[in-house]
Amino acid sequence: MVELVINGQKRKVTEATEDTPLLWVLRDELGLTGTKFGCGIAMCGACTVHIDGQAVRSCSYPVGHVEGEVTTIEGLGNPAALHAVQKAWIDGQVAQCGYCQSGQIMTAAALLDEVPNPTDLQVDQAMSGNLCRCGTYPRIRAAVHAAAKLMAEG
Ligand code: FES
Ligand code: FES
Repeated sequence: MVELVINGQKRKVTEATEDTPLLWVLRDELGLTGTKFGCGIAMCGACTVHIDGQAVRSCSYPVGHVEGEVTTIEGLGNPAALHAVQKAWIDGQVAQCGYCQSGQIMTAAALLDEVPNPTDLQVDQAMSGNLCRCGTYPRIRAAVHAAAKLMAEG
C-alpha cells in the first residue's frame, strides 16, 4: 500500500504495486483521467503532472518512488478559480483535439513557477518535450506569455 497526497488530499493506493507507473494509479485506481497516456516511454509529455511543483512524466514514474505532493490537471485550478495558465489557454483557444493539452498546461505552469517572464527561447526549450500532433505550438507559446502577464498582474 502506498499513501500519496494528490491535489491536497491524502489518497491510499491499494491495488497497484510500488513499481506501477504513477499514471496508471492516477487514471485507473483514482479516476483522475485528465492526465493522458501518449507514448508510455517518457517521450511525449502527455502524462505530465507535478511532484512538489516539478513537472514529471507520470508514465515512467513508479508510484512507490513518489515522495512529494502530486498535482494533476484536476488540482491545478478549479472552475471557480482557474490557474492563470488555464485562463490563458482558454482565452487563446490553444487546444485543437486537446489530447496533449493537460500535459502542456502542467509543463507551462511549472515553467512559470520557476521563470515568471520567460523569453521565446525559454518557452520553446521548456515546452520542447511536450509533443502536439495538432501543431498548436504557436498558440502554446503565445498562451505561456499571456499567462505570465496574468500572473504578473496578480
Ligand atoms: S505518455 Fe508519458 S511521456 Fe508520453
Ligand atoms: S491539441 Fe491535439 S495533440 Fe495537441
